[in-house]
Formats: sequence, structure tokens, C-alpha cells
Amino acid sequence: MSEKKVALVTGGATGIGAACVRELAAKGFRVGIHYRTSAAAAVSLLAEIGDGFLLPADLATIDQVDALMERLKAQTDRLDVLVNNAGVAIDADMQRMRIEQFDMQRTLLRGTWYLTKRVLRQYMLRADSGRIINISSVVGHTGNAGQIPYAMEKAAMDALTKSLAAELRGRNILVNSVAPGFIATEMTSRLPEGVRAGILDRIPLGRMGRPEEVAQMVGFLATAGSYITGTVIHVNGGLYGG
Ligand SMILES: NC(=O)c1ccc[n+]([C@@H]2O[C@H](COP(=O)([O-])OP(=O)(O)OC[C@H]3O[C@@H](n4cnc5c(N)ncnc54)[C@H](OP(=O)(O)O)[C@@H]3O)[C@@H](O)[C@H]2O)c1
Repeated sequence: MSEKKVALVTGGATGIGAACVRELAAKGFRVGIHYRTSAAAAVSLLAEIGDGFLLPADLATIDQVDALMERLKAQTDRLDVLVNNAGVAIDADMQRMRIEQFDMQRTLLRGTWYLTKRVLRQYMLRADSGRIINISSVVGHTGNAGQIPYAMEKAAMDALTKSLAAELRGRNILVNSVAPGFIATEMTSRLPEGVRAGILDRIPLGRMGRPEEVAQMVGFLATAGSYITGTVIHVNGGLYGG
């Protein structure tokens, strides 16, 4: 087995995912950068970190997750850390939300579950070692008007974390969620000004978070925190305490 530890970050080319890639590379990991559409950003991030590899896939399509696993196998004989970061937030209230939009949310969640299952079998169960870090969201706990399927997906991510940690009883594989509050990325850049002001009003630290502030916690869970599993760590400037 190669000596250097290896991590895979889904949705690793942009926002919080890219910050996680940088953080894990800085901590000495060889990092697999998964992307779907952000190919140029992924290529330049790989050039920046040096030691890593690229994995394109639409995680909502099971065949593409299978293809990703084949590419991963060709790249590495170990996978120490999986960061399930890819996510999509579709905004519409209950009456305007269409079934197809709900399904986009649902199929990405299914892909995350399936990727995790395959990574466990291929790497972590064999090695009896690993860290799985799911990026969920404060809205899975508080709910959010206009984002019901997204809030449902994020609550489900935390349920995945807790249930999988319980299933992996006796194994040296830790599973945790990091639940960001409102972080300044592409995803939140589309918020109308009034909504943004209302959110800032509710955050004790009085500002949105930075992607690096989420990545720091991911870096901690990837390398330390050896007695932490099945839990949700909130990174939200005091917006919600859990
Ligand atoms: N920003 C926030 O305030 C906030 C708060 C709480 C939780 N989060 C969560 O943090 C994670 C990262 O979000 P972000 O804020 O960094 O936004 P972002 O820049 O829009 O990142 C979303 C990522 O998910 C990937 N993705 C979306 N659909 C995909 C699919 N079907 N298959 C594969 N990859 C897919 C995208 O890949 P491509 O760009 O390559 O298509 C992109 O890299 C998400 O899970 C989000 O829900 C964000």
C-alpha cells in the first residue's frame, strides 16, 4: 500500500469542497478532486495542490458513480478519507417546486449513499480504517422556507451519518457530519439582498462564514478527533447550537 494517505472530496472544484481539498492537501493528503461541470476549476486546483487526481462524474447517475470507482481504483490502492460534499440547493416553495426538481435532490442523495457504500467495500472495510465526513447543513435541523427538498436531503445526510456510524460498530471507521450555516460561496451568492440581510441579523457573529472555516473542521475530523463518530458538528457563527 502506498504510504501517503489519500482523500476524496466530492464537488471538490468549487466553494466549500475546494477549501476542503486545499486543507487536506496542506495536511499531507494526496487528494482526489471529484467534479461534475467545473472541469476548468478542478484542473487549476489540481495544479495548485500538486499531488492529486481528477474524477469527473454526475453522482446522480449510478453508472457514473461506478465509472468513478473504476477510475479511483486505477489511481489509488488506499482511500483514507471520503468527504461527501457535493450538493445542490433548489429554491422554490412547496407549491412551485416540481417533481423533477425534487428528484434532482433525491438522486444526488442516492449517489452519495451509493458512493459511500462502494468506497467502504473497496477500501475502508478491507483496511478496517477510514473517515467519512458528510457535509450537511443547518437547514436540515432548523428547516428553511423555500427549500423543503434541500432541507430534507440535508437531514437525511445526518441520518446517514448516525446510522452508518452505528452499523460500523467495532470498526475503526469514523463517520461524522459537518453542518455549515450560511457560507459565502456560489450557492449563497444568489440570495436576494433582503433574505441575506435577514440571515445576517440572526447570526451572532454577524457575518457569513468562509469556506475555509468549514474546511478547518473537515481537516480536524480527517486527522484528529479519534473518539468522535456518529455526530453532527455545527459550523455556523452561532446561528444554531444543535
Ligand atoms: N454555502 C452554504 O451556505 C452552505 C451551507 C450549508 C451547507 N452547504 C453544503 O456545502 C456543500 C458545498 O456547497 P457550496 O456552498 O460549496 O456550493 P457549490 O460551490 O455550488 O458546490 C456544490 C458542488 O456540488 C457539486 N454537484 C452538484 N450537483 C452534483 C451532481 N449531481 N453530481 C456531482 N456533483 C454535483 C458541484 O459540482 P460542479 O460545480 O462540478 O458541477 C459543486 O462542486 C453542499 O453540499 C451544500 O449543500 C453549503
